[in-house]
Amino acid sequence: MIYVWRHAQGQPPSWEIEPWPLDAAYPTPYGKRHLLRDHPQDVVENIVDFGHLTPVHGTVGEVLSEPRFEAERLRTSFRILPAGGDTAAWVSAAAPELTVRVQGLGIVYTSIEVPKIGCHIRTVLTATPVSPTHAEVYVSGTMWLDRLGRGRAAGALTSALSRPLAWVGSFDFGKDFPVWAHKTYLERPRLAQGDGPIMN
Ligand SMILES: [Fe+2]
Repeated sequence: MIYVWRHAQGQPPSWEIEPWPLDAAYPTPYGKRHLLRDHPQDVVENIVDFGHLTPVHGTVGEVLSEPRFEAERLRTSFRILPAGGDTAAWVSAAAPELTVRVQGLGIVYTSIEVPKIGCHIRTVLTATPVSPTHAEVYVSGTMWLDRLGRGRAAGALTSALSRPLAWVGSFDFGKDFPVWAHKTYLERPRLAQGDGPIMN
C-alpha cells in the first residue's frame, strides 16, 4: 500500500505513519473498496461510538481499554458481545476482542483476537476523501487460525478464508453506510445515554 501526503497549503508531512504490524506468516490480505457518501471523520468516530453498536449492529461493546488520544493517534480496545435479537448476533457470539489503532483520520489498524476458536485477524482500513461529498473506504484483512498450524496447506486455506471474512466484515460495516449517507448536521443534537464526554 502506498500513502501519499497532500496538505491543503502545501506544507510537508508533520508526522509519520506507523507500518502495519503484520507477522510475515499471515497470508496475503484480501481487500474490498467502498465508495461512500461520507466524510472520513464519520468512519473514525464510528469506532469509539459505543452507543450506536446496539441499535445499528445488534451488539454491545465492552471497553477493555478506554480510548486514548496521543497527538494524531487514537488507541482503544474492546470486546464485542451480542445484544440479542439481531442478525449480527452470530458474529458477536464468539466475543471477538478488538484493538484499534487510528492514525489521523485516514488509517485504522485493527487486531481482532477470537480466543474461543484461536482466530487472529488483522485489518487495515483507509478512508480517502475523493470529492466534497464522497470518500473511498478500503478495508483489507487477513487471518490466522491456531488449529491449522504453520504449514503451506494452512497458509492456502487461511488465504482462501480471507474472502468470506471480507464479506462478513462488509456485511456488518455496511450497516453504517445508510446512517452516514442520510446524516444531517444539527447545531444542538439530542444526546443518547452514554454519549460524551463533550469537549469544547
Ligand atoms: Fe458502526
